[in-house]
Amino acid sequence: MSGGVNPSSAHDVGRVPVELGRRSYEILVGGGLIARAGSLIAPQLKDRRVLIVTDATVGRLYLEELVHSLEAAGIRQESIVLPPGEATKDFRHLEELCSRMLQARIERGSMILALGGGVIGDLAGFAASIVLRGIEFIQIPTTLLAQVDSSVGGKTGINTGQGKNLVGSFYQPRLVLADIDALDSLPRRELLAGYAEVVKYGLINDPAFFTWLETHGADLIDGDHAARRHAVMTSCAAKAAVVAADEREADQRALLNLGHTFGHALEAECGYTGELLHGEGVAIGMVMAFELSAMLGLAPSEDAARVARHLGSVGLPTSPAAIGRGFDAARLVHHMRQDKKVKDGHLTFVLARGIGHAFLSRDVELPQVEALLARALAA
Ligand code: NAD
Ligand code: GLY
Repeated sequence: MSGGVNPSSAHDVGRVPVELGRRSYEILVGGGLIARAGSLIAPQLKDRRVLIVTDATVGRLYLEELVHSLEAAGIRQESIVLPPGEATKDFRHLEELCSRMLQARIERGSMILALGGGVIGDLAGFAASIVLRGIEFIQIPTTLLAQVDSSVGGKTGINTGQGKNLVGSFYQPRLVLADIDALDSLPRRELLAGYAEVVKYGLINDPAFFTWLETHGADLIDGDHAARRHAVMTSCAAKAAVVAADEREADQRALLNLGHTFGHALEAECGYTGELLHGEGVAIGMVMAFELSAMLGLAPSEDAARVARHLGSVGLPTSPAAIGRGFDAARLVHHMRQDKKVKDGHLTFVLARGIGHAFLSRDVELPQVEALLARALAA
């Protein structure tokens, strides 16, 4: 983690390698990358033909710019535009997308470009992994959450009636283009939801980054491009290191789920309707993970308070009570038991010994979690 931000650097292209042997790739971070996508993507292409997958909102904002840049580089393109929103990440849209890819006579040498947030990246990446038994794909993430998390590391998939992300594959992209200019059009609520995932990296193992965010987070949210670039670079480097060490989440990659066990339970209860965004659930979940750590005598309670203070100061929710509806602690714990990370009936929790010192624990007793939730809900 470097302590400051060079204000002249916002438009330089930063490069973060993801070291995975033959499947290694780079994350490019900077301004104006969509406008330059054609020349940046061209070296990756076997055939000069790509299929863009996007959603209607992102398509309206960035498809023309992307198409222009591809045409200028002599790359043929077609696009598939899907409805925006979490509901698109389902079997029905996966089937539609696969059919349309085949109707477009996609070939193994073609390239899929996923232009959008985590929904498009997860869905298009999964389709790319199964159509013709695998077509290469490139992520062009346009939300902060997608730039710092979902576009990196190769988790792709869809939701089912049983829960989120339960059907999918590990399938790495060939390249990630994180154009920080695209964040300018992102609604503030979506930006904040992505910011929760940025904070997560500081809380896991980079206390200096957390301190930096306490100083610069508000600027980043208010539109400071240099701060955004620095935060995206730092987050991607952190994620790349974890993925390189444990691509298939045998162990340490699970640290990236800090706050997610609580967050997923709240999201499940809210029904993925937009009442609670993923990142908002993660923000509440990270506070609860630190409160649980403090309750178990593992972390100083001042650290739990500091996490809540910072997330609250930028406008993120920090307690289930902030969602504005009633929850039942036992039902939330029931959702946690459904988590795909349950092994032999035990949940893996991400706890912390302090800010920047997260670790995995399989010793947490669910009645303790229920008691913590009941207390938070009564507050
Ligand atoms: P999203 O893709 O639904 O995007 C949020 C909204 O912002 C959408 O309405 C979209 O149309 C709009 N949007 C996107 N870019 C925009 C822009 N630049 N300007 C204006 N509007 C824009 O949501 P998300 O938060 O990006 O991603 C959430 C999804 O990511 C969830 O399904 C979650 O499960 C998944 N996820 C996956 C991973 C992973 O490792 N694969 C990690 C974290 C989250
Ligand atoms: N978002 C968690 C992971 O990629 O493992």
